[in-house]
Amino acid sequence: MLREGQATAIQRADYQAPAWWIETVDLAFDLDPAKTRVLNKMRIRRNPDVPAQALRLDGDELNLARVMVNGGGSSFKMDGNQLVLENLPEGHEPLDLEIFTTCSPIQNTKLMGLYVSEGTFFTQCEAEGFRRITYFLDRPDVMAMYTVTLRASKNDYPVLLSNGNLVDEGDLDDGRHFAKWVDPHKKPCYLFALVAGKLVAREQKIKSRAGRDHLLQVYVRPGDLEKTEHAMNSLMHSVAWDEARFGLSLDLDRFMIVATSDFNMGAMENKGLNIFNTKYVLASQSTATDVDFANVESVVGHEYFHNWTGNRITCRDWFQLSLKEGLTVFRDQEFSMDMAGTPSARAVKRIEDVRVLRTVQFPEDAGPMAHPVRPDSYIEINNFYTVTIYEKGSEVVRMQHNLVGRDGFAEGMKLYFDRHDGSAVTCDDFVQAMADANPASPLTQHLQQFKRWYSQSGTPLVKASGQYDPTACTYTLTLSQSCAATADQPEKLPFVIPVEMGLLGQDGAALPLQLQGEAVTSSSHTLVLTQAEQTWVFANVAQAPVPSLLRGFSAPVVLEYDFSDAELLTQLAHDTDAFNRWEAGQRLALRYALQAIRTQGEVASDVMPAAFISALRDVLRHPTLDAAYKDLVLTLPSESYMAEQLEVVDPQRIHAVRESMRQQLAVALQADWAWAFDAHSDTGAYRPDPVSAGRRSLTGSALLMLCLAARDSSDTLWPGKTYQRFKDAGNMTDRFNALSALVYSGATLAQPALERFHALFRNEPLVIDKWFSLQAGACDRGGNVLPAVKQLLKHPDFSLKNPNRARSLIFSYCSANPGAFHRADAAGYVFWSDRVLELDAINPQVAARLARGLDRWRKLAEPYRTAAREAIARVAAKPDLSNDVREVVTRALG
Ligand code: PHE
Ligand code: ZN
Repeated sequence: MLREGQATAIQRADYQAPAWWIETVDLAFDLDPAKTRVLNKMRIRRNPDVPAQALRLDGDELNLARVMVNGGGSSFKMDGNQLVLENLPEGHEPLDLEIFTTCSPIQNTKLMGLYVSEGTFFTQCEAEGFRRITYFLDRPDVMAMYTVTLRASKNDYPVLLSNGNLVDEGDLDDGRHFAKWVDPHKKPCYLFALVAGKLVAREQKIKSRAGRDHLLQVYVRPGDLEKTEHAMNSLMHSVAWDEARFGLSLDLDRFMIVATSDFNMGAMENKGLNIFNTKYVLASQSTATDVDFANVESVVGHEYFHNWTGNRITCRDWFQLSLKEGLTVFRDQEFSMDMAGTPSARAVKRIEDVRVLRTVQFPEDAGPMAHPVRPDSYIEINNFYTVTIYEKGSEVVRMQHNLVGRDGFAEGMKLYFDRHDGSAVTCDDFVQAMADANPASPLTQHLQQFKRWYSQSGTPLVKASGQYDPTACTYTLTLSQSCAATADQPEKLPFVIPVEMGLLGQDGAALPLQLQGEAVTSSSHTLVLTQAEQTWVFANVAQAPVPSLLRGFSAPVVLEYDFSDAELLTQLAHDTDAFNRWEAGQRLALRYALQAIRTQGEVASDVMPAAFISALRDVLRHPTLDAAYKDLVLTLPSESYMAEQLEVVDPQRIHAVRESMRQQLAVALQADWAWAFDAHSDTGAYRPDPVSAGRRSLTGSALLMLCLAARDSSDTLWPGKTYQRFKDAGNMTDRFNALSALVYSGATLAQPALERFHALFRNEPLVIDKWFSLQAGACDRGGNVLPAVKQLLKHPDFSLKNPNRARSLIFSYCSANPGAFHRADAAGYVFWSDRVLELDAINPQVAARLARGLDRWRKLAEPYRTAAREAIARVAAKPDLSNDVREVVTRALG
């Protein structure tokens, strides 16, 4: 329930063009942590296309000192947070508007607007942070040219950065200095940035394909410079990739990345001055894992690619957020795959991306926060930076890519830029360009229906059934689709669903595909399902086939088909589509898990039958498959993915079953794990490439399995070896994997190893985050995790104000460790509600993310369900809750 005076929902349908344009902005900052003075001179003009209206400027927590129009004083009034100018001169001549305000960066714990992190000034303006710096039309369709002057103490803030080009700098009185920056591109204010502090930069000069010279810089705190090589390499690769794949070149002389350890999100694509969470910049072999290295590459790519998809063409309003985010995630995923190189490494990346989609986005779509890729309403836009906007948005772009083909997609991108460069547009504009550039494609043929992917929430269910006719040698495949009602929408219409498929013989060999009446189409084909139910007949099928459906996860749907165990084992052994080969193993594991979860009584120790174990052994021992791929096949579906398959969720039962399955794999394949460890543990000099990273991840899993197996036999050989590896490791990946194996298996050596790890890395904040997170994510044995987490809250290294640290301890427990969090005594939920309330007073954005942790409470079995609802209600009962958290808990209870 929304109380009186509380924010109400903003509707997409209410969009109106701005009544005023801001053409130029000249900002002057006198930077001071306690009181920063901001002089904002704007040239504004009435929008001739809309009826004359007062000028209403957004502001938030600003102190207003002065307003001047055309050099003279002006009357104004306040309407809530808005500054309203009613009596501006009529006509369409430009006006000079000058606004002088102050703000207090040091008190800014929300990390939105201008704030101080470790003595350095940073800004974060997306989505609505610019209004915390000055009064403005804080909306993305108002694009202006910016000139920025920064003044600050030269001693305390030797480096002064903003968007664009440095045009002037020099000394002032009183030990102060200044820098003046001009951005040559117009931009919405959410892309504004400034940085001021003691920083050093790694620099690289490059020449683009187009022949233009550029300076690339990565700014960090002085001690961190040697951890920037990978980020710089990633940036150079990103520049080259966007030119090669899409013909998009860097449009600036200078491109800067700056790292801060206080950041709400991953990174931000401010024009020419990207600001990054240190987690996605800093990487050295001794402090960062292979996963960290891969994340740095992908986030550096993501932010860089925004320079075109987001900055040159931006969003008309925040409902169009996926226009830039879905497309840019698609681009960063493709970049990572192209960088990975081999088909097998591409498949591994694809599987990892799909796993995120299915374990996080599918639940979101089925829960209280369900929303379309292009939402229709929101209360707090910060709550809509979701996996639906990002990851499902990327899948929607990927389907377009697959429907028009790789070259057609490049043509569509070209048309999109020809039409819209320099403007603020909508998701519709993007799809339209894609369709218009590919008139003969199935996308264009079904354009209006395809757009339902943007307007309808929910995960479609595709049911498949097949019929083999041995006399006619035909195989008839029927696909039907449905989509359950979601929290936000009761009714769903059919989607356009590309289903890539092939047929396998009983021996696993690929069969040629020939749709009746058509030519043979090699061994893989994309069927486009548009009706509620459709049938396809394949001719000249010599034997009853095993269908391999939804190859490469060609659409973000749930696929149901009544596979026999034998058919899945055939796919697991032979499918030429690496995704479906992995998927077959996951389907089998899930099938056995669900059977055991639904069975009453003690969990069996042999949940998986021998045939499956032996098939997994074959994969593990396979002579040619990549280690990274093997590791994915041998990883059981997560507890949250299992939970999503059930009507009523008993988290403890799920946890017990998955633990039992893992123990079974550990014991049954003990000798194979030992072999895998020995065969893969020497990866030579450290390089974070996918092949050697895969070897390290497989050895890491092997160590965990061997430590788990040791529990059964109270053998100390492998825990001892693991501790040794932990001590001697030459890189963080091996060291952390060994430490994790000790912790997750509950080895006696875990405690001394944790202590040693902390002592070694006490001065490395990102490593200390891992140390917190590992303990909060540990396997619960007798309810021991929560007391440990509570103890860690009091650790001198813990701070709720630093988002990375808060996430490492609190989110790792509440949102990533269901077996420890869902306690029958409700203590986990009470802990959760305390932390949500505590965080909300500091940083509502981060608090609202934590508040999402109980979204799926309705599915819980008793006593969890009632206890969870009480915990949410307890949060909701607080009167002065932020809009962010209020929206989340209101929806959860609604
Ligand atoms: N636009 C950023 C990205 O996706 C994410 C972000 C949103 C960062 C809001 C900060 C605040 O790259
Ligand atoms: Zn982004």
